[in-house]
Amino acid sequence: MTDLYAVIGNPVAHSKSPLIHAEFARETAQDLEYVALLAAPDAFEAEVQRFRDRAGRGLNVTLPFKHRAFELSQKRTARAEEALAVNTLAFEGDTVYGDNTDGVGLVRDLALNLGCALRDRRVLLLGAGGASYGVCGPLLAEAPAKLVVANRTPDKAAALCSHFRGLHPHARALCASGYEALAAERFDVVINGTSAGLRDAMPAIPSGIFAPGALAYDMVYGKVTPFMAFAKAEGAAVADGLGMLVEQAAESFHVWRGMRPETGAVIARLRLEP
Ligand code: ATR
Repeated sequence: MTDLYAVIGNPVAHSKSPLIHAEFARETAQDLEYVALLAAPDAFEAEVQRFRDRAGRGLNVTLPFKHRAFELSQKRTARAEEALAVNTLAFEGDTVYGDNTDGVGLVRDLALNLGCALRDRRVLLLGAGGASYGVCGPLLAEAPAKLVVANRTPDKAAALCSHFRGLHPHARALCASGYEALAAERFDVVINGTSAGLRDAMPAIPSGIFAPGALAYDMVYGKVTPFMAFAKAEGAAVADGLGMLVEQAAESFHVWRGMRPETGAVIARLRLEP
């Protein structure tokens, strides 16, 4: 029997997940169907139930429902607990399992596709919203020399750091900052986890913060954001979040199917799409 999966969000029509999972299924010869489900803001839980009634096996959850998926999960992985968000639901019998594959997706894209190991590097994470909560734990687990979390509203960066300090063995590397205070520092990897790029804005980071050979990574994909343009002008190498999207999908596929698909060909194919 064909197993049913879906991505649920609002909006969701733009999602590349059905295409990505169709490629993974073909590559690994898995008999599954993967569709997109639009949920009205007040109907997330009802849509999930309807999907379960159709014997659906698992869901990817995208904006704005990752926290609601966290609340709905009966059993959660440690990485979902620390992120306070769930992007992967698995239904087994009566149990709803919640996981979060976003942070691992970012780390794998950096390490495997971009050749950027984080161990002992100076890493800057911009933003203290849901995207940053999702990736902070897996970034810390790579044992960077330091992980500075900077935000326009510095109190939110401080709150994020104190949340992870209580949870993570490598949290000594973590510290909070505003943007102006970054002027005295240099970073090897700068990751933009703000939503500014979606509105063609960028966090007000000072120039001169990129160390020689630095990588600037924007979690947004499908466009050159002002952050990416700024970083390029500052001499950094630049990457968008397309690889993270595919890698988090591969990790979800692994959670559901117990096998890890190859991602390189899928990333290359998506790069050719308009
Ligand atoms: P979420 O729902 O994920 O919490 P959000 O409200 O879209 O997110 O904001 C995500 C992040 O993008 C926040 O860190 C936000 O900064 P503030 O906490 O100071 O609001 C950041 N952000 C959004 N637009 C920005 C901009 N134009 N400049 C700098 N940071 C921005």
